[in-house]
Amino acid sequence: MLPGPHLPFPPLLCPLTMSLNTESPIDPIPFARPCIGEDEVEAVVRVMRGGWLTTGEETRKFESEFANAVSSPHAVAVNSATAGLHLALEALGIGPGDRVLVPTWTFTATAEVVHHLGATVELVDVDESAMLLDLEVVERRIRQEVSIRAVVPVHFAGQACDMERLLAVAHRHGVAVIEDAAHAFPATCRGRPIGSLGDLTVFSFYATKTITTGEGGMITTADAQLAERMRTMRLHGISRDVFDRYRAPGASWKYDVVAAGFKYNLTDLAAAIGRVQLARAEELRAARQQIAEYYYEQLTGLPIGLPVVRDTRDLHAWHLFPIRLEDDAPCTRDQLVASLAEQGIGTSVHFIPLHRHPFWKSRPSIRGRRFPNADAAFSRSLSLPLYASLTHRDCRRVVAALRRLLTPSPSRSLVGVHLDEPIRS
Ligand SMILES: Cc1ncc(COP(=O)(O)O)c(C=O)c1O
Repeated sequence: MLPGPHLPFPPLLCPLTMSLNTESPIDPIPFARPCIGEDEVEAVVRVMRGGWLTTGEETRKFESEFANAVSSPHAVAVNSATAGLHLALEALGIGPGDRVLVPTWTFTATAEVVHHLGATVELVDVDESAMLLDLEVVERRIRQEVSIRAVVPVHFAGQACDMERLLAVAHRHGVAVIEDAAHAFPATCRGRPIGSLGDLTVFSFYATKTITTGEGGMITTADAQLAERMRTMRLHGISRDVFDRYRAPGASWKYDVVAAGFKYNLTDLAAAIGRVQLARAEELRAARQQIAEYYYEQLTGLPIGLPVVRDTRDLHAWHLFPIRLEDDAPCTRDQLVASLAEQGIGTSVHFIPLHRHPFWKSRPSIRGRRFPNADAAFSRSLSLPLYASLTHRDCRRVVAALRRLLTPSPSRSLVGVHLDEPIRS
């Protein structure tokens, strides 16, 4: 079951983009494609003509509009979610001797920043269906290990973890919660927006994400001191930002370096795209939800597990549509990926669990640990195309290809199956 009403599936979901009805049946369907329209283009041109390209007024407006959108008092724009996670942990003072819980079912960015700060990454398995942090393990470890300073839940695929339960146990033990919401804008947890719940929340505006600035990110927090520290550290640890030094009323060349900071600021060019995308965020999310509903409807009955929605009353950002091959599927995940690719259909795998990567598995805190749910899911998982500019025709091609490849037929081998027949809905 999906959250929200079942809406009619429109023939063209994102009329502003280049994905128009001129495709031939063999046109590639990429795994991801940004939904950029004329308004975004005009916004960038406006900033380019304005004479100030890097962090300035446009970024401030983006921050304030984003803070408003997620009901958070503070939003700090950065040039990636990775930078945001780094700044968030730094602002909390995470460092050597501290342990940070991170799900193994994530992208390496979630963990690498912990390592950069000299703290220890402690990987945790995910639940076997929604692939969200296993809260029983988290609770046990927080109760038992005093050196755990923070936990970084990942709202995988755009679905929120149970934040109420996580925050209750974490705060009872003085453990900070930094949400990795790279997939989860816009999304809610028990009706409250992601971005207004944890100590800090980090969003990604990478090119494949639900709203994009090409590269970019945003950190939200209710804590004014943390926000102030992150603003300073995102720009070299300088006490005043560059706009204030050059352009603001009363501009002065003087500044103090108060810490060894980073170069993590977002440009006004990117913020201009972000403001337009932010205004369209719900329209884009609704379009993705319609595609997800179509996939649920059309793929039921095939030997694949469809994404499990934890609470259908909540808003799901639908960044990803991960499916999982069942035991009786007539092919392996890798064969399916290759066959779909032959037919011009892009897919991806989310994720290769961190404990399977050479670097992470050699860490003393991870070596020898077991992650059975992530391991069981990994070799069977793949993610289907899901973005607002996917046309109805694209979706029908994806469904037709999956039906053909996953319906066992003694006369048909996987090799050489092509989607050159007319598409049936
Ligand atoms: C779960 C997760 N966290 C963090 C990131 C890093 O995002 P960014 O590319 O904006 O740094 C990604 C990127 O794909 C991600 O999937």
